[in-house]
Amino acid sequence: MIEKTRENTLKNYNPKIYNDAVSSLGEKDVQVVNFDITRAIAKVIMSMFGPKGLNKMIIPFSNEPIITQKGDKVVKTFKNRIPITLMLLDLVKTQEKNCGDGTKTAILLTAFLLEKTREMLALGIPPQIINRGFSLSMNKALEILEDNVIQFDFQNDHQLVDIIKSVMNHKFTYHNKESHIALIVETLKNNTDLFFKSHNFVFSDILFRKVPGKSVNDSELINGMIIYKDKPNLSLPDKITNAGILLVQKSLDFFIPGNKELYPKEVEINSKEMLQEFSQFRNEYYGNLARLFKQKGVDVIFCQKKIKPYFIDYCASMGIVALELVGEEDIKKLTKLLGVNAISSFSDLSNIKLGNADSVEFKKISGDEMFFINLESSKILTFLIRGGIPPLMDELEEIFNGSLRVAIQTVKDKKLLPGGGALECEISQKLKIFAQNYPNKYQIVITEYAKAIENLPAHIIMNSAAEPLDLIPQLRAAHSNGQKYMGFNCIVNDIVDVVKEGIYDGYFTKKQIIKITSELARQIIRVDSLIMVYNRKLYEQIEKEGKEVKSQKHQEKVRKYLNKKDESLFSDLYNTK
Ligand SMILES: Nc1ncnc2c1ncn2[C@@H]1O[C@H](COP(=O)(O)OP(=O)(O)O)[C@@H](O)[C@H]1O
Ligand SMILES: [Mg+2]
Repeated sequence: MIEKTRENTLKNYNPKIYNDAVSSLGEKDVQVVNFDITRAIAKVIMSMFGPKGLNKMIIPFSNEPIITQKGDKVVKTFKNRIPITLMLLDLVKTQEKNCGDGTKTAILLTAFLLEKTREMLALGIPPQIINRGFSLSMNKALEILEDNVIQFDFQNDHQLVDIIKSVMNHKFTYHNKESHIALIVETLKNNTDLFFKSHNFVFSDILFRKVPGKSVNDSELINGMIIYKDKPNLSLPDKITNAGILLVQKSLDFFIPGNKELYPKEVEINSKEMLQEFSQFRNEYYGNLARLFKQKGVDVIFCQKKIKPYFIDYCASMGIVALELVGEEDIKKLTKLLGVNAISSFSDLSNIKLGNADSVEFKKISGDEMFFINLESSKILTFLIRGGIPPLMDELEEIFNGSLRVAIQTVKDKKLLPGGGALECEISQKLKIFAQNYPNKYQIVITEYAKAIENLPAHIIMNSAAEPLDLIPQLRAAHSNGQKYMGFNCIVNDIVDVVKEGIYDGYFTKKQIIKITSELARQIIRVDSLIMVYNRKLYEQIEKEGKEVKSQKHQEKVRKYLNKKDESLFSDLYNTK
């Protein structure tokens, strides 16, 4: 009897056990929030998906509008106080960082998996079963993926061009796309030591400099770096070959307060003579320093801080290019490019280390002067991107970046996967057969996972203005006949053998997508409540000042009650004797 009353009381009573600065959602609500938000985000991404997907225009708070085809750039603009949005943002950031492609597929697949989860929960399948079922499905999907691998041969130019073309997609509506593919192929072939043998190569060593003007086909690759700097003195030559380069982190203005390393004396000037004496000393001083640098073989100085104008001119008179206020990031990259550290102390100039470039050159491009540092076997590469308008150049940067990264990874993996939805159809088909090994609820979960994967080609077809209700059954029929490379080609809007047509996907990209989306979906399924500190200040205040002592005591009582440790608490709390 007492047990019964207790149960009813618990049902009706909703004790406030959280701190006042915290709000919470229970199981049903949190699932609705997570599923609804993922669905809303997927809806935004959906229209962008596939070669004929559309781009989004984003207007950042203080910058020029950008036009993007990247999922991560769009997800970044969503509200970030909602945990599920942050999780999705993490997902696309990881995908972009590791692969440079596949962000939209990742978002959509997560959304499809959660949509199926919602339906299964409604059917009464417990989250624990869905979670384990998804894990079984993921492992099997990865096995099927391995069975569909196509060997990649770096010497086979067709394969290389095809994977680059597939990643570039057909979104870019200019005509001479071939020249960009050729540029990526050339970049790969000319830098094999850097990409495949160097241990410390990272993708951020590929830089992009966008200069409006000319056409996108005039974009080129520079072995080395480009710094946005004007010639500091017109007497300097445009080009210096075999240039000695000094990197400096500290200011080269020794007479500013606090910079006493080279000139530690305090000077108080109170007469004309002293002023003359001082300026003579200063001129001699800077002259000597410039001569010392010249003796050491310095042709160029990149200084992160300010350089005294006198010194810039002295240097120029000796043919030394002294560039001030070079950005921290540029100095870091120059350090890697030249293999020397930037000097941060002038106390010992006797053994300064110089970097060496094949040549340095000032060039005027569309009215802007730039300084090129060229090295034949360079550790840093720079794409100089040209184009009529900035959004076009942004898009080209995304395309170069994505296709080069997938191509590098493909050469390393020596593997490719069939694109155009062929792999997804095969995985879906084989998973449905695999599901039949389970005479229980897992069969339903694995089948739903398979349907979620099949949704991907259905959306590529839809975005190409073709009819998924006709084409998906055709694809299913082909795959059940063992034609595992049958997929969709958006150029002809029909079912084709994608391998024959050279439509591929990156091996690492697809594998990563299956892993991280399945893991994220499983993580979300396992969440049954959301506890959020919405007011950090109040939260900290309550913690510090113990304002909620009363509420804590209350919590303690409830906790004990829930643990059924003290029967007397029952009457005490709820007066239901
Ligand atoms: N010619 C093509 N026809 C049909 N699908 C293609 C073609 N080329 C690439 N795809 C497919 O487009 C999908 C990638 O689309 P994309 O918009 O780049 O999304 P993501 O951001 O996920 O890379 C892949 O599944 C790929 O197989
Ligand atoms: Mg892509």
